[in-house]
Amino acid sequence: MPPVRKAIFPAAGLGTRFLPVTKAQPKEMLPLVDKPTIQYGVEEAIASGIEQVIMVTGGGKRAIVDHFDRSLELEHYLRQRGKSDLLHILSEVDALSNQVDITYLQQKEPLGLGHAVWTARRLVEGESCAVLLADDVILGASEPCLKQLIDAHHKTGATVLAVRRFPRDQIGRYGVVALEGSDGRLHDVTDMVEKPEPGTEPSDLAIIGRYVLTPAVFAELNRSEPGKGQEIQLTDAIKRTLGSHPVVALEFEGDYYDTGTVPGYLRANLMLAMKRDGLREELAPLLRELLDAD
Ligand code: G1P
Repeated sequence: MPPVRKAIFPAAGLGTRFLPVTKAQPKEMLPLVDKPTIQYGVEEAIASGIEQVIMVTGGGKRAIVDHFDRSLELEHYLRQRGKSDLLHILSEVDALSNQVDITYLQQKEPLGLGHAVWTARRLVEGESCAVLLADDVILGASEPCLKQLIDAHHKTGATVLAVRRFPRDQIGRYGVVALEGSDGRLHDVTDMVEKPEPGTEPSDLAIIGRYVLTPAVFAELNRSEPGKGQEIQLTDAIKRTLGSHPVVALEFEGDYYDTGTVPGYLRANLMLAMKRDGLREELAPLLRELLDAD
């Protein structure tokens, strides 16, 4: 089976859950400690063997392009002042765009996740490709999450979705899968519901933002109609391939941080800061103090 070489990053959303900070700044550039969320996704894609990153952006997303470009002015400034440690940080970001080709496409209207992915159709024609949602940050696994999905794709030939178990009362903000047979952590998908109403969840397995899509999904995206929230949903297009093309769900290994909501974002920052030497020592006493004062 041919390797999965291309990864689509839908990054055209308006970030309304984070207003006002996202009024003039892409939500993908919000920091997790000191690195923008989208950089974690690009690092994961590269570590999973991806050769081309396709960023689907919209208006006001210039900062993403600049982030993955060199800043000669900043480099010059730091070099003149002998700040080799900071130059090293810049060179690490620069190394990313040397390891992978980054292509930018415009989604001209915010018509939904399915439409954003469809925007990249000509660049992935006839190939299976990955999709990563930058809001979903997955760290700490021995194999990067996307690599786990790609391996599952090579084993099955199927479209692969990353899934994680959630208590049913917390699952309504995700796409949710229904399953039949299982092979360890790999399950056959029989149905999918985007953001089910309470009490109608088909299982406790939520779709997390990592996918390997086969060309069959793009054929369905070509004839997509608006679904939940009047948006063209990726979940609906994948669902329409069921029956004619296999879809599997992989319970991936790794720590999952949902940075797509304000509470989830704050939690992720706190958890990652507490894992960082130098920050943990500062934060731990503060957290204890705050808890004691409660
Ligand atoms: C999207 C998908 C949803 C998935 C989620 C993962 O929703 O539509 O199926 O569970 O990402 O983060 P969004 O977060 O864009 O509303």
